[in-house]
Amino acid sequence: MTQQRHFLTLNDLSSEELRQLILRATELKQMRKAGEDYRPFVGKTLAMIFEKSSTRTRVSFESGMAQFGGHALFLSPRDTQLGRGEPIEDTARVISRMVDIIMIRTFEHEKIERFAEYSDAPVINGLTDLVHPCQLLADMQTWHEHRGDIKGKTVAWIGDGNNMCHSYINAAIQFDFQLNIGCPEGYDPDPEILARGGDRCKIIRDPMEASEGAHLVTTDVWASMGQEDEQKAREAAFVGFCVTQEFMQVADKDALFMHCLPAHRGEEVSAEVIDGSQSVVWDQAENRMHAQKALIEFLMQ
Ligand code: CP
Ligand code: NVA
Repeated sequence: MTQQRHFLTLNDLSSEELRQLILRATELKQMRKAGEDYRPFVGKTLAMIFEKSSTRTRVSFESGMAQFGGHALFLSPRDTQLGRGEPIEDTARVISRMVDIIMIRTFEHEKIERFAEYSDAPVINGLTDLVHPCQLLADMQTWHEHRGDIKGKTVAWIGDGNNMCHSYINAAIQFDFQLNIGCPEGYDPDPEILARGGDRCKIIRDPMEASEGAHLVTTDVWASMGQEDEQKAREAAFVGFCVTQEFMQVADKDALFMHCLPAHRGEEVSAEVIDGSQSVVWDQAENRMHAQKALIEFLMQ
């Protein structure tokens, strides 16, 4: 076992490293748009372990690695020994001897921590029940491209105190912005993570009030992957938490709207908002690829 850097949460990089990474992501994006052929990782392999569904994460990592001249390998528990009970520690030791970098999307965060502990190669968190740090790289890059530095701005998180909310709390710390969390009682973020946010993060029960003056309004599905059975109960609990045009009207006049996607129009966000002029969701989705290319480059160097 060697001392290896991983990206399991936003806290695994310093604020300065995160800022540099986002600038690099935009640079890589411009290089690609200019048609520049940049293949620093010919002959290198990225293993991607998906225990949950994905569109953006899979396509962005796979395309990004191909653009770098490398190869990406899609692995699911259905057709690997992971699904038949091979210990995570053994899988980590075996795979990391064959590939150069590994991305995992799974349920329990503890599982990716255990994997990373036994991996000789860098491990990237492609979403766990606890956090979704790659999405925040893309969100912060997208903000930066549209509005510059996010330091001192106010972000309104509307909805569930879920993995995305946790990553927004971590981002508030790392990028130094205020976070208003508009969530109904019973759906608060993890108290330990929230406490780490200190004065920067506060829960505001009224979602409209949480949006007041916000420079960025963001939300996510009410029932995350693995919570499908709770869909009906959650729909009842989140009445009044659909981000509509009224929310955008009380926000700052230049406010942006973000959503990590996939979205449910008419549930957590109205069609008018997500398809409206303040929405930058398609840039956000595209930036997943550029931001993760910058991350791969950072971890492989
Ligand atoms: N936002 C996001 O992670 O999307 P996928 O679930 O499609 O990967
Ligand atoms: N909170 C959502 C994010 C999907 C990208 C989930 O975990 O399903």
